Amino acid sequence: MMEQIHNFDEPVLRRGSDCKKYDAAVCGPDMLPMWIADTDFKAPQPVIDALMQRMSDGVYGYPVVSKEFRAAVAYWEKTRFHWDIPESAVEFVPGVIPGVICAVRALSHPGDQVVIHTPCYPPFRDMASHNGRILLRNELKVKNGQYQIDFEDLEQKLSDVRTKLFILCNPQNPTGRVFTREELEKIGELCLRHHVFVLSDEIHGDLTYRGHTHIPFGSISKELAENSVTFVNPSKTFNTAGFRTAAFVALNPQIKAAVHEAVLDNKGIGENLCGTVATIAAYRHGAYYADQMMEYLEGNLDIVCAALEKTDKIKIVRPEGTYLLWLDCRGLNMTQSQLKAFFEQKAKLLLNDGLTFGPEGEGFMRMNIATQRCNVEEAMRRLLRAVEEI
Ligand SMILES: Cc1ncc(COP(=O)(O)O)c(C=O)c1O
Repeated sequence: MMEQIHNFDEPVLRRGSDCKKYDAAVCGPDMLPMWIADTDFKAPQPVIDALMQRMSDGVYGYPVVSKEFRAAVAYWEKTRFHWDIPESAVEFVPGVIPGVICAVRALSHPGDQVVIHTPCYPPFRDMASHNGRILLRNELKVKNGQYQIDFEDLEQKLSDVRTKLFILCNPQNPTGRVFTREELEKIGELCLRHHVFVLSDEIHGDLTYRGHTHIPFGSISKELAENSVTFVNPSKTFNTAGFRTAAFVALNPQIKAAVHEAVLDNKGIGENLCGTVATIAAYRHGAYYADQMMEYLEGNLDIVCAALEKTDKIKIVRPEGTYLLWLDCRGLNMTQSQLKAFFEQKAKLLLNDGLTFGPEGEGFMRMNIATQRCNVEEAMRRLLRAVEEI
């Protein structure tokens, strides 16, 4: 078969397409949006072809979770990450966040404590506060040029009898850490020792840079597989977030049934026909695209890192995964509202406010580089010019 090549430089029209990233009220025509975590790339051609073919039927009634949907998720985990899971362990969920919320409701009670690494993706914080759970923050701290886990603090939080769940986000949003086997084993061991169940959000699992490998938490051992539920979604990799279709993997049948029941109890968040078709096509035929996209993103990352060398005001710890960059802007000596205004009004760049990732994010902004190279180059020109003009 001829090798498929995807052109990540191909411009796509997003403005005016009911697209959250470009059509947000704050995103004026002169603004370059680099915030919410989707890509500016067309989905892989096999995904487009599968959707076109299915859509041409003209019949769009209620779908079921097909056998092939479960098989495609299992195939991807096995072929990409050497995690051999039975199809029966895979279940549909309408998104990783809805899935995590359902799992939290199914596996803990109001008043229970949930531990998470911080800074953390904002919906995790909302999940806790909206469901009466108490979030305990195990802060990742920079040591030897890398965000590292404070295991002493982690164990203290896990050992509290009121702690029932640990939410692992790996690769981690927003720091871009890709945890090593050793770290994951240590987390797993501590959770087992203190009877804490793990919800592993691996939505960024495909997005690792050269020299870093994503290891599914459940692939480490049978014990850890049984003491966890893993969430995946092809959306970050293949730009299919609009289909609201994800999956969870639970090797423990009782846990799987409990989480699934919580999903079913929330009527109205059922299967999505387009999402099912897209997920199957992406996981069966999208490996070439995932590989080529990471090579392209590494080029974008190099550009940002090289540009930031030219100023001592904004720093970055080079991420090991994800297309999200956690920019340390404390050198600009601005309050958070000044910082946001600086990016939006002076640099004309729309980024995520670091403070929404928790108090650890004060002085930080998160930048999404999953866009055409020319946009990344333009963003760096704008940013450096704005810094010079201060
Ligand atoms: C860590 C993490 N989890 C979950 C999500 C969202 O997942 P979904 O759209 O499947 O609910 C994101 C999106 O940015 C994310 O970064």
